[in-house]
Amino acid sequence: AAHLLPGSQAQVPELGAQHTAAPEHGYVVAVLGASGGIGQPLSLLLKLTPGVRELRLYDVAPTAGVAADLSHIATPARVSAHTGPTALADALYGADLVVIPAGVPRKPGMTRDDLFNINAGIVRTLVEGVARFCPRAWLAIISNPVNSTVPIAAEVLKRAGAFNPGRLFGVTTLDVLRANTFAAEVLGLDPETVSVPVIGGHAGATILPVLSAASPPVQLPEDRARALMARIQDAGTEVVKAKAGAGSATLSMAAAAARFAASCLRAMGGDSNVVECAYVASSMVSGLPYFASPLRLGPAGIAEFLPLPHMNALERENFEAMQVELAASIQKGVDFVANPP
Ligand code: NAD
Ligand code: LMR
Repeated sequence: AAHLLPGSQAQVPELGAQHTAAPEHGYVVAVLGASGGIGQPLSLLLKLTPGVRELRLYDVAPTAGVAADLSHIATPARVSAHTGPTALADALYGADLVVIPAGVPRKPGMTRDDLFNINAGIVRTLVEGVARFCPRAWLAIISNPVNSTVPIAAEVLKRAGAFNPGRLFGVTTLDVLRANTFAAEVLGLDPETVSVPVIGGHAGATILPVLSAASPPVQLPEDRARALMARIQDAGTEVVKAKAGAGSATLSMAAAAARFAASCLRAMGGDSNVVECAYVASSMVSGLPYFASPLRLGPAGIAEFLPLPHMNALERENFEAMQVELAASIQKGVDFVANPP
């Protein structure tokens, strides 16, 4: 383009420019806790996700820098910064999907439940905002302890008359990614070709990878199956130890949440072939009021609870063993909203 006539530049395509009109359609996604260890890489991945029209970044810590930085990436999603409680309404108004990674992470020696005292109140406040400003949004909770924060979110939404059990999800996708990765290692396969259903909850023994029902099936002698299950259940702690006080999984979690969010948006858009495991309100699949299991997502939220995968004896033993812990974590969340400390 060295010898253009004056005024002719307008017809010369810019290097790399896309010559389709910017789509007017697409979805509004809000990330609450967007400046954090998960929030930043998750927001990056969402900026790159097809179907995102607006990306709203909310945090009590500054968001302007993250938003300015991401806004230079040449994808259609418009990025906006919303810092502090007075900006929550603008962050949420009209959102289609709200993802919440706000809250403190573990340090070595802590359980996820040790985060309850701080994170329960954070989730309650943020979900009060969701109930008020975008009651029809799909809501994906990452903040730990997920086994309790999802019941907290549900109770807050119920009180506001805004609870739709088909649109509230505890994100357990990281457990699925780990199960796929570690099972693939054992089988000598590409992890992208392995799919392990993970059911139950998101803490220690409540995480139940049903390896025998994986695709392809993972058939191992019992001692090796036990070891693989234990590695998946303890994977969060493996990262907490390796980070040695600097927090817990952030990058793999961002990848997991971005996958889950993209699945939600595809389902909202009418793709009828979207199945993800997530921790949701339902007593239909197990005896417990909340449980993670494979779900088919549809335009209005959960379209179908797939049957629980068939379990072998070892998996059923784990299924029975988790019941008391999961029930207690659920009740703790319900009680927190009913009788605030
Ligand atoms: P982080 O400390 O790096 O980031 C948390 C962010 O939340 C910070 O930017 C902080 O300012 C913000 N925040 C705190 N209070 C807030 C409030 N009231 N409103 C809005 N934002 C607020 O922590 P992280 O590593 O990103 O982890 C966040 C949470 O995710 C932790 O609770 C962690 O345990 C959990 N987690 C869950 C999974 C999962 O599989 N579900 C995986 C990894 C981490
Ligand atoms: C994880 O599984 O990595 C998260 O729940 C964070 C943690 O505390 O382990």
